[in-house]
Amino acid sequence: MRTDYCGLIDKRFLGQTVTIQGWAHRRRDHGGVIFIDLRDREGMVQVVIDPDTPEAFKTADSSRSEYVLQITGVVRDRPAGTTNKNLISGEIEILAKDITVLNTAVTPPFQIDDENLSETVRLQNRVIDLRRAPMQKNLRLRYKVSLLVRNFLDTQGFIDIETPMLTRSTPEGARDYLVPSRVHDGLFFALPQSPQLFKQLLMVAGFDRYYQITKCFRDEDLRADRQPEFTQIDIETSFLNEEEIMDITESMAKHVFKEAIGVDLGDFPRMQYDDAMFLYGSDKPDLRVTLKFTELTDVMKDVPFKVFSGAANMEGGRVVALRVPGGASFSRSEIDAYTQFVSIYGARGLAYIKINDVTQLNETGLQSPIVKNLTPESLAAIVERTGAQDGDIVFFGADKLKIVNEAIGALRLKIGHEKGEAGGYFTKGWKPLWVIDFPMFEYDEEDKRWNACHHPFTSPKVEHVELLKTDPGKCKARAYDMVLNGWEVGGGSVRIHRADTQSTVFDALGIGEEEARNKFGFLLDNLQYGAPPHGGLAFGLDRLVTLMTGAESIRDVIAFPKTQRAQCLLTNAPNSVDEKQLRELHIRLRNPTPLA
Ligand code: AMO
Ligand code: AMP
Repeated sequence: MRTDYCGLIDKRFLGQTVTIQGWAHRRRDHGGVIFIDLRDREGMVQVVIDPDTPEAFKTADSSRSEYVLQITGVVRDRPAGTTNKNLISGEIEILAKDITVLNTAVTPPFQIDDENLSETVRLQNRVIDLRRAPMQKNLRLRYKVSLLVRNFLDTQGFIDIETPMLTRSTPEGARDYLVPSRVHDGLFFALPQSPQLFKQLLMVAGFDRYYQITKCFRDEDLRADRQPEFTQIDIETSFLNEEEIMDITESMAKHVFKEAIGVDLGDFPRMQYDDAMFLYGSDKPDLRVTLKFTELTDVMKDVPFKVFSGAANMEGGRVVALRVPGGASFSRSEIDAYTQFVSIYGARGLAYIKINDVTQLNETGLQSPIVKNLTPESLAAIVERTGAQDGDIVFFGADKLKIVNEAIGALRLKIGHEKGEAGGYFTKGWKPLWVIDFPMFEYDEEDKRWNACHHPFTSPKVEHVELLKTDPGKCKARAYDMVLNGWEVGGGSVRIHRADTQSTVFDALGIGEEEARNKFGFLLDNLQYGAPPHGGLAFGLDRLVTLMTGAESIRDVIAFPKTQRAQCLLTNAPNSVDEKQLRELHIRLRNPTPLA
């Protein structure tokens, strides 16, 4: 029925008769002549309907926004001065001979090119939202990325193997989504948080190189970069060490960025986890922001200012400075806003010093209420270690390590993104890196126990195996994260391939033999049948594509995403189900009148 896509018709078609189909994007009545911008997946073209073709004119006159039209007409030059450089079809227009309404449309909830829509409105009307050019572009890019990934991994000898969606849960640290079994009264499947254990079992089964682009499900607190169901590019290999795994996956990331968006990521630097926390307070530092922490814990132990000396002497306390070049010009209200901002992360205040004159280490040279409560040695250390210059501001965080890292880490990003370009401490572009040498465990203060930093199947560094029993906090893992512009885009590790080491790690995690057998018996059993050394990594596909598009949220690269409250506003899921369904599943609700 159609000869060409609207958005691809250009000067080469001059004089030709074309038939196009699409949606009436806009209709304008210019006193006797009607213009319709017809839109399809490739873009738009301007159609002119003249009263000389009365049938077509009548149809055009009665057409409304988003009507589905078929138009046949002749391609001609646009009159001088009316060309549109932003469109491929911007130099031509189509003089309509014939118009057919293929379908009418009720008035859409918003104009397709409205750029000021609330996300709620967009998600409620997702189908119309998806018609918008940026969303069409995002989903096409997403497809392109998947295709590039598949082709790249194929050339490297990987094969795609599917793993079950209805399974036992594997512990990746989040809550599971559960599915009740009808056949087995009182029993549940879990949706996979990742294919972690299955991919390890595929290595035991001898497949050597596996990948899968697959959905994962995690019932966790949502943020801009998290969805309850998201997509991983999941990879596992046998007989490769961490260097080789990082090599392959780094090559893949470079290839995909180059081919999909023409970006050369360059070689990825490596940063130890400890250094990342020390300098940036984060295990996924955004290196586009060049501001760094300055350690001051050692020089603050004896200062009269109790906030600093208290933190410096506290077990697990930390005092750091963040120097912001040129920041002495920050206004009182800006500093108040930053103080408010760090309080979200538990900081109880945000001390600062404005540097008027570095040569005077007193209340004249250093403008701040806290200067009188600091010692000359500590003031000298602040200036020397931060490298502060006249006109700078130095912020301070003093508290438990975690609070300082999170609060000052977040402040570093906020100031860097808001002021860094003007201030010369933000560089545009792409800053990938590997964060390596993660700890095996992190201590959970609330539950008073060790948790796995990555997951419990991650191998300790060979030279740290002994520490598993004696000092688990010092034990480092063969784990690595790929970080890009402050986002963790991928994470992986070399796994434990021996049942005895796996048991020791379960021990350290306080998972007893019975619990381990009960939860992971199938893994432990199979590790005994000659499991090869193996390891891998999983990329977050949604995150990769979001970064490529420059979108704010991963919801913009997912056709039908969920809200921050884990709901689908299009279908209104989750929803209540009828009593019969529940009865079949052997379920009685605690609250029989749910709100949805
Ligand atoms: P991990 O839990 O680090 O590792 O997940 C791998 C990558 O998946 C992405 N990701 C998410 N993206 C969107 N929404 C979420 N809720 C979400 N959670 C994670 C991130 C992350 O880097 N089995 C291991 C991988 C392995 O060891 O091979 C795993 O799942 O980009
Ligand atoms: P105060 O002695 O409470 O008036 O605090 C003096 C300065 O120290 C103020 O600018 C506070 O914002 C700041 N401050 C208080 N607690 C902390 C903290 N834990 N870390 C950094 N600065 C703080």
